[in-house]
Amino acid sequence: MSAPVGDIGLIGLAVMGQNLILNMNDKGFTVVAYNRTTSKVDDFLANEAKGTKVQGAHSIQELCAKLKRPRKIILLVKAGPAVDSFIQQLEPYLEKGDIVIDGGNSHYPDSIRRTKELEAKGLLFVGSGVSGGEEGARHGPSLMPGGSTAAWPAIKEIFQKTSAQVNGEPCCDWVGETGSGHYVKMVHNGIEYGDMQLIAEAYDILKRGLGIHESEIADIFTTWNKGVLDSFLIEITANILKFNDDDGEPLVTKILDKAGQKGTGKWTAIAALDAGTAVTLIGEAVFARCLSAIKEERVRASKVINGPQREPFRGDKQQFIDDLEQALYASKIISYTQGFMLMRETAKELEWNLNYAGVAGMWRGGCIIKSVFLGDITAAYEKNKDLESLLFDDFFNKAVHKAQPGWRRVIAQACLWGIPTPAFSTALAFFDGYRSEVVPANLLQAQRDYFGAHTFRVMPGKENPRLLKGRDIHINWTGRGGNVSASSYSA
Ligand code: 6PG
Repeated sequence: MSAPVGDIGLIGLAVMGQNLILNMNDKGFTVVAYNRTTSKVDDFLANEAKGTKVQGAHSIQELCAKLKRPRKIILLVKAGPAVDSFIQQLEPYLEKGDIVIDGGNSHYPDSIRRTKELEAKGLLFVGSGVSGGEEGARHGPSLMPGGSTAAWPAIKEIFQKTSAQVNGEPCCDWVGETGSGHYVKMVHNGIEYGDMQLIAEAYDILKRGLGIHESEIADIFTTWNKGVLDSFLIEITANILKFNDDDGEPLVTKILDKAGQKGTGKWTAIAALDAGTAVTLIGEAVFARCLSAIKEERVRASKVINGPQREPFRGDKQQFIDDLEQALYASKIISYTQGFMLMRETAKELEWNLNYAGVAGMWRGGCIIKSVFLGDITAAYEKNKDLESLLFDDFFNKAVHKAQPGWRRVIAQACLWGIPTPAFSTALAFFDGYRSEVVPANLLQAQRDYFGAHTFRVMPGKENPRLLKGRDIHINWTGRGGNVSASSYSA
């Protein structure tokens, strides 16, 4: 048998797989392609991959035989049991040090498990986030690999050359241990939900609040795309709003207002609840999709529940549009602040060494949330890798202060109009809570102690003989209850 020529193998010739193969081929790598339905391999070689160096394989054994050692095999198959099934099929043909890479949208606990299982067998596993859709896969995605650390030197060149480049830097770096690559991709998707919801709320305010037509809203987004909001999602929003159906009506106005979701946003919200981190904006973005999904019920409700009479806007329209831009910017700062807080909390718990400047850098290009803004986040974490939150960084601290008055005006006006702004509003509520030295949790604690003897701690400076520092205190609030605290009798 001739010497193996393949630099990397790829399983799964759906649209992402095919495009990623062609991209890697363009970057000078010899890719061996395999698909369960092997006729797809032949079709691909005869059409899209014609004239390239791409090799085909008609069995897992052939795929493995064609790869140079250590073998590197990317799976681009549906997340879930299919990934485990392919790993099982590969194992008999792999040798110590070979690397299996899962490039699907897998849930990170699965990647943690797979890393452990393969490492126990002397193999290496990488769970890699791949973002950017079809276009990204073909011309440069954002790649977020994590897993067996020993795999990184072997895949680094292929991954970094294949990824998008921003200012000559690859949108790919080693994320960290076990499931961290897929974790970071999950948070990316949660942030994607948040960004999309914020844009949708801005559109709603411009349309239903100010009464502006889609074509003009497109122009507003185009202008915003030249400033602090410069990003892929703002750019495509302007393009979508300009796109008319054959009768000249904006096509977007004919799309049923029921949002779908495949679950990665929900995973992020669940992960935030599990970690006890207030990732409120992504949560609201997920719930907004849930509320949109009950269209029929909303239609019935709209007939029987009235909001305020919507008064025409009498203020300075351009000023309000500028305020809206600032509201979007400030809310986005909060969303990313929360996303990075979540990653930090999880990294602490799972003992991952995440490189936050690297994560933001990977998201600057190639992916759905790519933006100029992510360059500023990269800079903030490069300045201080232990940054407590983005709001402590000078650049973002100034930006959010500058945006604050307009942000408040927009939410107040939307509230008077009766236009829902779950993402804008929750961002502001988080901001006001985060900057509050004192929040009313003292009362919550008192209530918990009153009805359930759950105890509380004393506020520094307020200690006295019955309110002792550092103690779990229970008060007999009514004179009827006992003096025994919940924690002491459960102990
Ligand atoms: C990406 C996207 C990609 C996909 C989302 C869509 O980074 O390329 O995030 O992963 O578009 O999964 O998610 P929903 O169907 O849940 O909106």
